Amino acid sequence: MLLSSSLKFSHELMEKSLKPGDRALDCTAGNGKDTLHLANLVGPEGKVVAVDIQKEALEKTKNLLQEKKVIHRVDLIQGDHRNLDELTHGPFKVITFNLGYLPGGDHGVVTDPESTILAIRKSVKMLAPGGLITIVAYHGHPEGKAELVALEKFLPTLNQNEISVLQYRFINQANNPPILFALAAPGDDHCPDL
Ligand SMILES: C[S@@+](CC[C@H](N)C(=O)[O-])C[C@H]1O[C@@H](n2cnc3c(N)ncnc32)[C@H](O)[C@@H]1O
Repeated sequence: MLLSSSLKFSHELMEKSLKPGDRALDCTAGNGKDTLHLANLVGPEGKVVAVDIQKEALEKTKNLLQEKKVIHRVDLIQGDHRNLDELTHGPFKVITFNLGYLPGGDHGVVTDPESTILAIRKSVKMLAPGGLITIVAYHGHPEGKAELVALEKFLPTLNQNEISVLQYRFINQANNPPILFALAAPGDDHCPDL
């Protein structure tokens, strides 16, 4: 289909944004699929920082990256992304969030609106000129629904001169397909008065 799923579209935007040698940040490493995509895009000279609150998730990510032979491109950090500015430093060309719980893991450990919004605020400050933040939100479970409500309230308040916010969602599909928010920072050539 011409219109990609939210997850696929987020990966396509990463492909457009990243070039070899860039730095990228995954704020929810989980099973490592997004981290792997970023590691492939930044190439051997680039760097990916991958954060997750759970040791189990980082183990899974590490195993996948080792299997694909790109582990040396990635720094794995266990921590709560609400403390992002203490865990790592910018600038990053791409920052990604894939919200919710670890598939196949403990559903009790789930992203929460307060820490997600704190982490997004910090991410905006860590973004390189022309950079991209992607947030994939799953709203088929109660915590995810509440998180989506919070994001839909918070994201429109971001200053349009600092960041543009896109919401990408299918409005006629069953089973609550995930929703993508894509945030793009102006490039070096941006002039807010024009
Ligand atoms: C949907 S999964 C991520 C999927 C992953 N990106 C992938 O490609 O497999 C969400 C992850 O967020 C993590 N998480 C939940 N709350 C967090 C927090 N406050 N800080 C960092 N990670 C968190 C969970 O442990 C879980 O692994």
